[in-house]
Amino acid sequence: MKTALITGITGQDGSFLSEFLLSKGYEVHGTIRRSSVDYRERIAHLEGQPKFHLHYADLGDSMSLIRVISKVRPDEIYNLAAQSHVQVSFDSPEFTANVDATGVLRILEAVRLSGLADTCHIYQASTSELYGKVEEVPQNEETPFHPYSPYAVAKLYGHWIVKEYREAYNMFCCSGILFNHESERRGETFVTRKITLAAARIAQGKQSKLYLGNLSSLRDWGYAKDYVECMWLMLQNDKPEDFVIATGIQHSVRDFCYYAFKHVGIELEFVGEGADEKGVIKSITPQLSAVNKRLTVGDVLIEVSADFFRPTDVVNLWGDPSKAKEKLGWNPQKTTFEELVKIMVDADMAKVAVERAGESIRTNLVEYLEKGIVK
Ligand code: NAP
Ligand code: GDD
Repeated sequence: MKTALITGITGQDGSFLSEFLLSKGYEVHGTIRRSSVDYRERIAHLEGQPKFHLHYADLGDSMSLIRVISKVRPDEIYNLAAQSHVQVSFDSPEFTANVDATGVLRILEAVRLSGLADTCHIYQASTSELYGKVEEVPQNEETPFHPYSPYAVAKLYGHWIVKEYREAYNMFCCSGILFNHESERRGETFVTRKITLAAARIAQGKQSKLYLGNLSSLRDWGYAKDYVECMWLMLQNDKPEDFVIATGIQHSVRDFCYYAFKHVGIELEFVGEGADEKGVIKSITPQLSAVNKRLTVGDVLIEVSADFFRPTDVVNLWGDPSKAKEKLGWNPQKTTFEELVKIMVDADMAKVAVERAGESIRTNLVEYLEKGIVK
């Protein structure tokens, strides 16, 4: 019976990894941060399970990490905690460095101080952002790094300090160089989720336009649920090694919009260039027209806003997952791009429908209260 500690358990990956490890019989511990509002939505369904435990700790606070690691004495640590938003890292570079760079060092030292250096296997959440201003396409484990944001520079430190502890102290620690992975649980300000939520709201008449930044940016998008399995496989490997985790297929932000809107019944065409580019309705399915009569062919649904441009942007990420496929037996194509878009759009269509139903219940209730129908 193994024990795992997940930092960042409240995040997208943390929630899927918890479910995965619980299904394998693990005792799962996770670190959470105190917040004035409850941000534990993604793991609420797991709380109270006998093998699921939460502890307060922060990657900026060494003492909290030493306390939890020495108490839990995990066989495996998955360090997923991070300030994970690239654009935010330009506004909060020092905080990002403290968590995403020095935070990794704090975990490694806490493991050593707890006397677990010889037994504990550690997974570090590295990122394709390390390739940044890419020097080769597609990218593999040998491609040189060229980080291109404060987030990526901080993550590069995390990546190298893991390698250093592996070599200096013979620790079983390794990094997964994960390309973008998305899901119905993705944070709402990452581009894919922003698009799927907007498509659902526009289809249901709750939003009229979507503003985006660089539509030509290229990403290798996979499904987060598939990627957490690979994190686990890396820690079951006979030796600690770094792996690229990707699908091997690339799409633009524009493509993502096209498929997401298509799935709700709107075919888009893109006209114009650069900051003047627009996503316009080319056709609407009869089913959607029947429920949303305000949508008309020719309506502009997507516009470009300079607010979402980054001082330096990474525009050509495309991973080569051959090593993970061969050495770990991982399937990079388990969920296709089209399936991923469908999963996300379906979930957001349901979310928006529930919100609308809640609004209409509230409106009716106010009316009934005013009329004295209910008291
Ligand atoms: P996410 O949804 O943003 O979750 C980040 C997690 O980190 C949250 O649980 C957050 O807690 C926690 N956290 C943030 N600051 C912390 C701090 N100072 N101390 C302790 N915990 C802290 O991110 P994700 O998409 O699941 O990604 C997981 C990891 O993989 C991150 O390290 C990310 O950088 C990396 N990564 C992600 C992708 C991707 O495409 N998703 C690709 C490559 C690498 P709160 O809920 O309290 O904020
Ligand atoms: N967020 C966002 N919002 N991005 C936009 C927008 C917008 O309105 N419009 C265009 N983009 C472009 C960004 O400029 C970027 O090139 C691309 O869409 C993807 O942006 P994000 O979804 O924010 O993700 P990311 O690639 O910057 O970072 C994610 O993936 C990394 C792995 O490559 C995060 O999950 C990181 O934590 C992760 O390391």
